[in-house]
Amino acid sequence: MKEKLQKIMDDALEQINGSKELDKLNEIRVSFLGKKGELTSILKSMKEVAPEDRPKVGQLVNEARAVIEEKLEEKKQAFAKAIREEKMKAETIDVTLPAKKPMVGHRHPNTIALEEIERIFVGMGYEVVEGPEVEYDYYNFEALNIPANHPAKDEQDTFYINSDILLRTQTSSTQIHEMEKGKVPIRMIAPGRVYRSDEVDATHSPSFHQVEGLVIDKNVTFADLKGTLAEFAKEIFGPETKVKFRPHHFPFTEPSAEMDVSCFKCGGKGCRFCKGSGWIEILGCGMVHPHVLEMSKIDPEEYVGFAFGVGLERIALLKYEIDDMRLLYENDTRFLKQF
Ligand code: DAH
Repeated sequence: MKEKLQKIMDDALEQINGSKELDKLNEIRVSFLGKKGELTSILKSMKEVAPEDRPKVGQLVNEARAVIEEKLEEKKQAFAKAIREEKMKAETIDVTLPAKKPMVGHRHPNTIALEEIERIFVGMGYEVVEGPEVEYDYYNFEALNIPANHPAKDEQDTFYINSDILLRTQTSSTQIHEMEKGKVPIRMIAPGRVYRSDEVDATHSPSFHQVEGLVIDKNVTFADLKGTLAEFAKEIFGPETKVKFRPHHFPFTEPSAEMDVSCFKCGGKGCRFCKGSGWIEILGCGMVHPHVLEMSKIDPEEYVGFAFGVGLERIALLKYEIDDMRLLYENDTRFLKQF
């Protein structure tokens, strides 16, 4: 009996020592100490033991149980410790490592360019105003001297909502709203979104932004227009920037011009950036047509004005040397975080 007990104990201890996981320990406990366990079965066969030996055997069984239980507990603690240590190791924080930078948002290149334009004109005493994007044909075309059947109407592929209402194709419509308010003099810029039914490519989008400018006062001359826009060009592209005005035609200005700036990349010598010409076209402008003043109830005998319109994306693309307009609309953070 004693040898049998010893054998059970040795088996149990060997299994406990050899076990590799917590669950295994439970199995061992059940197989030795459980109701149908090996040790328990010895107690059950007590009746085969001579009555005078029973207390002795009972004591031996209890001792064996105590030893096995102690070993099980020891092993259990060892497992728990190993698990804890592993967890601690995995969760270690090296406080000497450089910290992770929090993600910081970036202003969109359009926004940066717009804020720059606003800063320049506000500095010259202009007010920043806004007009509606959904507009009457009257404000977008007619009051700008573009009557029905005027060829200029076809040049700008318009999104019509009905025969009278459309998505504005140009911020020039804001000029009319400002003049209709009946307060002169006017010195305003009007940034905003405009719409044209264009296919998307590197230089076109069905929706883009313009910044309109309008000055109405007594004795305003083309020299004022040139001086103002030359100053604007220097501020935005650098003090070396020269400007050139080329005669052009817009229905709402007379005379009209397009303004070029000397290429800020090559200084005017001609490079890939300015397609070899040394000049880059950046805006349209002119003296407000007397008929436009008249339609908006401003007396052209007393007041004169000049106006200009800049493509905001064009300024952003040039300023940051971006060669594809689509990049401005995709909002890929890898692109945006460069600004
Ligand atoms: N509205 C014109 C366009 O979208 C740009 C423009 C040209 C605006 C001349 C003006 C201007 O105010 O005077 O092409």
